[in-house]
Amino acid sequence: MLAESNSLPPKVLVVGGDSLIGSTLVAHFRSQGTSVGYTSRRPHHKSPACIPLELGKAIALPYIPEVAILCAGVTDFRSCAEQPDATRRINVHAVLELAATLHLGGAHILYLSSNAVCEIEKGSVQSHSLPPITTELGAQKYDAECGILALGERATVVRATKVVSSRVPMFEGWLTRLGQHSKIFPWSDKYLCPISLRFIAFWLAELALRHVSGVFHLSGENLVSYSEFGLKLAASMSADCKLVVPSTMDGAGLTNGRPPQHACLDMKLTTSTLGATPQTVGSVLSDLLEEFYLTPAIGWNDTSVSSL
Ligand SMILES: NC(=O)c1ccc[n+]([C@@H]2O[C@H](COP(=O)([O-])OP(=O)(O)OC[C@H]3O[C@@H](n4cnc5c(N)ncnc54)[C@H](OP(=O)(O)O)[C@@H]3O)[C@@H](O)[C@H]2O)c1
Repeated sequence: MLAESNSLPPKVLVVGGDSLIGSTLVAHFRSQGTSVGYTSRRPHHKSPACIPLELGKAIALPYIPEVAILCAGVTDFRSCAEQPDATRRINVHAVLELAATLHLGGAHILYLSSNAVCEIEKGSVQSHSLPPITTELGAQKYDAECGILALGERATVVRATKVVSSRVPMFEGWLTRLGQHSKIFPWSDKYLCPISLRFIAFWLAELALRHVSGVFHLSGENLVSYSEFGLKLAASMSADCKLVVPSTMDGAGLTNGRPPQHACLDMKLTTSTLGATPQTVGSVLSDLLEEFYLTPAIGWNDTSVSSL
């Protein structure tokens, strides 16, 4: 249900303003001078820019924005595997209900998906192909993608690969420990195709403001193991490479057999539309170090953003 309001609505609504990517997007739009609102299910936001919204509960939107970027949902593989029905109600049914309401009101919908919809062992995935989905989270993201695309015009799906950020506890731990000359124990049997928070926020914002429809990919250029990435991080921090001690997920009993293999994504359509190219590991590392050392408080801890 839509609530009534006479004020000029923000151009962009970020659904999931507390999420890693959503909070960075809000900060990015604000830094560009684009009017932006956001949703949160947390009670502490008192800002007029914040709409209280919990997926799966009644929706009361005070306005329809020009474009809505859907970032909220259950994002961890384990919760989805352990509670498939409850998480599907949020990640598929509630997301699609909200998307339909916003779309009916005239908004362009941008849904943030991931390479979990296309897990393969090696290589890159094109936007029109569908390799086997091996996880419940991947299946939920794919079903939500289909529902979003079925809206027709004014609907965009953006699949992204793994976001590396100093706000992700594992990477923050690595940065802190390597800076203190302490050892880290990254996995050699789990892979990522890294992109930075700055990269995803910048290009998502570009896609959102251009109102292009279809399936777009934002990807790293290379698939690397976590231990390879840890070694490259140590080198970029001029830390001793002996501090990086490879371990295995299997050895730690963290997998039931094969760990998920996160593929890189083909960015041909995104490149021809926006000029964006897959991010190199070197560029990811440079953004990561800048985020950690120069802008550690980006997001809701940043006073300029939390005072929204
Ligand atoms: N991070 C990545 O590497 C990556 C890569 C590719 C794609 N993606 C996709 O990008 C999107 C955002 O990812 P992220 O990593 O930024 O997410 P995140 O930091 O894990 O945040 C998820 C957000 O969803 C909110 N949420 C969960 N259940 C909710 C509910 N029932 N109602 C309302 N809000 C709810 C959470 O609220 P609380 O904060 O209150 O718990 C949280 O703010 C997701 O769709 C994810 O699949 C992420």
